[in-house]
Amino acid sequence: MRRPLALALAVLAALPAVASPAAAAAPAPVGADHGMVVTAQHLASEVGAQVLKDGGNVVDAAVAVGYALAVVFPAAGNLGGGGFMNIRFADGRAAFVDMREKAPAAATATMFQDASGAVVKGRSTDTWLAVGVPGTVAGLEWARDHYGTKPRAALVAPAIRLARDGFVLAPADTSLLQLGAPDFAADPATAAIFTHGGKPYAVGERLVQANLAATLEAIAAGGADAFYRGDVGRAIAEASRAGGGIITAADMAGYRVRELAPVRCSYRGYDIQSAPPPSAGGVAICEVLQILEGYDLSAMGYHSAAELHVMVEAMRRAYRDRQGLGDPDFVKNDIAKLVDRDYAARLRAGIDAVQATPSAALEAPPPPKPEGQQTTQFSIADGAGNAVSVTYTLNSWFGLRRVAGGTGVLMNNEMDDFAAKSGASNQFGLVGSDANAVAPGKTPISSMSPTILTRDGKLAMVIGSPGGSRIITITLEAIVNVVDHGMTVSEAIDAPRFHMQWMPDVVETEPYALSADTRRLLEASGYTFREKAPWGQAAGITTDLFGEDGGGNGLAIPYLAKPPKPYRLYGADDDRDPVGSAAGY
Ligand code: DON
Repeated sequence: MRRPLALALAVLAALPAVASPAAAAAPAPVGADHGMVVTAQHLASEVGAQVLKDGGNVVDAAVAVGYALAVVFPAAGNLGGGGFMNIRFADGRAAFVDMREKAPAAATATMFQDASGAVVKGRSTDTWLAVGVPGTVAGLEWARDHYGTKPRAALVAPAIRLARDGFVLAPADTSLLQLGAPDFAADPATAAIFTHGGKPYAVGERLVQANLAATLEAIAAGGADAFYRGDVGRAIAEASRAGGGIITAADMAGYRVRELAPVRCSYRGYDIQSAPPPSAGGVAICEVLQILEGYDLSAMGYHSAAELHVMVEAMRRAYRDRQGLGDPDFVKNDIAKLVDRDYAARLRAGIDAVQATPSAALEAPPPPKPEGQQTTQFSIADGAGNAVSVTYTLNSWFGLRRVAGGTGVLMNNEMDDFAAKSGASNQFGLVGSDANAVAPGKTPISSMSPTILTRDGKLAMVIGSPGGSRIITITLEAIVNVVDHGMTVSEAIDAPRFHMQWMPDVVETEPYALSADTRRLLEASGYTFREKAPWGQAAGITTDLFGEDGGGNGLAIPYLAKPPKPYRLYGADDDRDPVGSAAGY
């Protein structure tokens, strides 16, 4: 059974290294010279583009988008959740703002287990115990204070308007609201905002969020203090108490943003700046890319058996290592080792030329050493090469699916990203370890991977996506599709995806990701496949560093897919996301 792929690899090895002719019938990216804002909701994209037009910088635009998405994309945009903001200025300055949730002071390692130590189903996702202390407002305000240029009120104003006056719902908006409707109906305060007496909204209706508008007005007037130390914070603590949760006013008042050094690595001449722990995203992306640098993916060919084999094996190893990561204030993460070229070379040496490595055969990561003690992506860039990549989330779509009292703020269920118990899996099938055990004040490990690529100091790409554990492979495949296969940013994002996360030992594929021949070759090498519905909603920007269409190989449909002239910036929102847009000017 070893022959077919061995043969294929041998043939491919003999081929000269040429760019693989990958061109898809994806829509053209949006081209622009001055600014580009890509988000999962078109009204938020327009808010961000307008801030840039009005002379705001990329951080100002990101802050305004962060607030606006909390209104127009309530499934994942948020004030009651958390996330990461990755900033890169054209002069080389970089900042990574960690605004992810933290466990309340009363949290314990066994809070999601029963008396016998069994994990209680639903407790970490569907109860007030699932809620982490939210970080979004603190993070947006930190970013604005330290890196923005515009007054707070100007950046919150568009969100206030959209909440107070409402916005007209498109089909994709109502589909999302329908998803949450049964749970909204169970909570009167939530039902009053997101349903008509328990019934879902219809297309063309206007969603008005008066309570959220009042909360945003309080933030515009009083900043993060109004949210954490004022009436809003007290209302969140009270809603938590009334619902059986443990968040107190002191937890709210004590929330602190962290600024962390981004994870860095290079791949085929591109410098990558991505998310450090408490995200596993940047480490895993860099680890995979360091392994892949030893293979000529371009010559192997887009989604060939040879390419899938080495990419899946690299993913398998990086997700195995992901399991050992935790909040850097609690666990020592050996980032330098995991993104090191020599380590990658050792891992590469363990990849058989033909056969799949069974996941169980990989040694589990060593136990962590204690140290002292539904998500959305937006990508923003301007013509000068400044960029911001943000992924933030309530975790599940609409998080807990409950607002906190009269605040209009939907709360997260981010505590599910902790390991409820060592060895137990969370809602994304990720296996938990002690490095990610619940502890007071601790942040659960994340896969969110807001990423920025540069080359010789020039901006090349801004990328990221929602998708739970798949965020890492979505972001990675978009990078490989542009860098190795010469795709435009829209082709790279729209291309069918595959995913492997060590455990379970299966390769997930979107429909049409593999030809039947390729699949058979890989099955003969020991792979098991599971086809899944398409996943993720990547938001990406490339620049003219990749050529006239920001990527691409000249094979685009001439009258349709190619922008009429070279631009500095090319933006694309995932075609899997029906209501997002790239807004450029
Ligand atoms: O931080 C994480 O990795 C998860 N809370 C992300 C959740 C997510 O992407 C859900 N959306 N599809």
